[in-house]
Amino acid sequence: MLFVFLLGLLCGAGASEAGNSTRPRLPSVPPLLLVSFDGFRADYLRRFAMPNLKSLYNEGVLVEQLTNVFITKTFPNHYSLVTGLYAESHGILASNMYDPVTRKHFHVSDSSDPAWWDGARPLWVTAQDSGLGTAAAMWPGSDVAIGNRTPTHFFHYNSTVTFRQRLDNVTQWMLGDGKEPGVKFATLYWEEPDRSGHHFGPDNATAMAAVLKEVDDHVGALVSELKRTGLWGRVNLLVTSDHGMAQCSAQRLIRLDRCLHPDNYTVVDLTPVAALIPTNDSQAVFALLKNCHPHMTAYLKEQIPERLHYRYNRRVQPIILVADEGWTIVETGDRLPRLGDHGYDNSLPSMHPFLAAVGPDFRRGLRLPSLSSVDVYPLMCRLLAVPPRPNNGSLSQARCLLEAERCWDVPLAAGLVAGVLLLLSAVTVLFRFLRSRRHSGPQPFQRLQIDLDDDDDPLLE
Ligand SMILES: *[C@@H]1O[C@H](CO)[C@@H](O)[C@H](O)[C@H]1NC(C)=O
Ligand SMILES: *[C@@H]1O[C@H](CO)[C@@H](O)[C@H](O)[C@H]1NC(C)=O
Ligand SMILES: *[C@@H]1O[C@H](CO)[C@@H](O)[C@H](O)[C@H]1NC(C)=O
Ligand SMILES: *[C@@H]1O[C@H](CO)[C@@H](O)[C@H](O)[C@H]1NC(C)=O
Ligand SMILES: *[C@@H]1O[C@H](CO)[C@@H](O)[C@H](O)[C@H]1NC(C)=O
Ligand SMILES: *[C@@H]1O[C@H](CO)[C@@H](O)[C@H](O)[C@H]1NC(C)=O
Ligand SMILES: *[C@@H]1O[C@H](CO)[C@@H](O)[C@H](O)[C@H]1NC(C)=O
Ligand SMILES: [Zn+2]
Repeated sequence: MLFVFLLGLLCGAGASEAGNSTRPRLPSVPPLLLVSFDGFRADYLRRFAMPNLKSLYNEGVLVEQLTNVFITKTFPNHYSLVTGLYAESHGILASNMYDPVTRKHFHVSDSSDPAWWDGARPLWVTAQDSGLGTAAAMWPGSDVAIGNRTPTHFFHYNSTVTFRQRLDNVTQWMLGDGKEPGVKFATLYWEEPDRSGHHFGPDNATAMAAVLKEVDDHVGALVSELKRTGLWGRVNLLVTSDHGMAQCSAQRLIRLDRCLHPDNYTVVDLTPVAALIPTNDSQAVFALLKNCHPHMTAYLKEQIPERLHYRYNRRVQPIILVADEGWTIVETGDRLPRLGDHGYDNSLPSMHPFLAAVGPDFRRGLRLPSLSSVDVYPLMCRLLAVPPRPNNGSLSQARCLLEAERCWDVPLAAGLVAGVLLLLSAVTVLFRFLRSRRHSGPQPFQRLQIDLDDDDDPLLE
């Protein structure tokens, strides 16, 4: 009964908070800075010393694994972080895309046509609708006029602009310049450790230690700059990433020409998730690919599992091939293109990034084992007091990160329930002990031992 009561208490607490979540619009919310270090695999945090990042989340919160969206590539995931939508719903499905209606091709190096992005509205647009200034330093899509609007301040993508330059501009934009007030939402993107992860492979501890030391120094520079300008403690800071990285090998190549003739298909995207347009007969081409390789799964578009949320969009091609972790799809030859890659199934831990956050609205010292990356959008909307657009995320878990939310964290609740159950069994044993004393008089010791064990066990009878 106590157990049921406790459960009711838990559910009640949850329900009362989940109900009417509109809160009065604050005159001014703290600025929000969202930082992404591309390709930061979650377990790098455990494998490498990252003192600056550690002290950052020790003062705030850490989500050890962020379950990102399929396919686990840079553009789809960066757009999911700022829209809360799965790739099929925001329309940025891969690094290379083809649209059968407009007959246009997309590549990440030529991504400025708004048509690709217009399936969604990123937070920098929605925040402007609420009257907030926004800024972006190289976040994918931030130099595109989505719905005819860019952030208030932004860079045209240029990979040679240093982290320091990006950081200096972002802090200037957040501070304002006397004439213009500071922006309330800013994003900052950095290409590492993705670049090194591809080049050296995540298993190369020497190379990864070097680049992660650099990344950690950038985190240090970020914190120092926020402290120097007086923003530290006044901004909510999110540090995260888009995806992880898996080790590849020349021993793990999947050659398409072993299974079918290149005349049979057109490649839109190749690895580790291939998107193919069959030349003629989809079923016949699929039959050739279905059993092509034990480490590659072929799907007709209609058969792509719902859990991948990668089906309901015209830019998903008629056939997709998904390589197993660490395998690389090539059309022909035996050359391995990259020692590290990502894009694989988003249920793989190696594909997950992390999320750290610190600031006035966050708890201190809290850790969550995992969260969905689509939940970051509603969390940011809550922080900015901006109404979220329809999205695939939820605040049900993410709100536990916030100081102002009453929230049962799972280990604590489980501990309490276990404690109560233990107490109940102790009371039962004591009760039976007392009863057995009353009924059988002396020699209660043996009975007690039996009761402590399993009294359904015939051997004890
Ligand atoms: C929340 O409450 C306010 C005021 O009571 C009301 O105007 C609003 O519609 C409610 N919102 C929801 C989502 O129930
Ligand atoms: C970044 O800041 C520098 C120095 O203040 C300025 O010259 C440059 O125009 C800024 N960049 C952008 C994209 O506004
Ligand atoms: C990219 O940035 C570098 C360094 O800031 C600059 O020298 C170069 O002109 C920029 N390239 C373009 C295309 O703007
Ligand atoms: C690891 O990376 C270093 C460069 O940091 C390189 O010299 C070395 O050959 C790499 N090792 C392997 C096994 O690839
Ligand atoms: C596809 O069909 C066209 C005509 O329908 C034919 O000319 C061509 O050879 C076919 N190609 C393949 C690869 O089967
Ligand atoms: C594949 O291409 C070859 C060579 O053009 C052709 O003979 C064959 O019919 C095609 N098969 C399918 C299933 O399209
Ligand atoms: C994701 O959200 C969009 C927008 O609300 C919606 O259209 C779509 O059906 C959602 N997807 C899932 C799987 O719920
Ligand atoms: Zn990458």
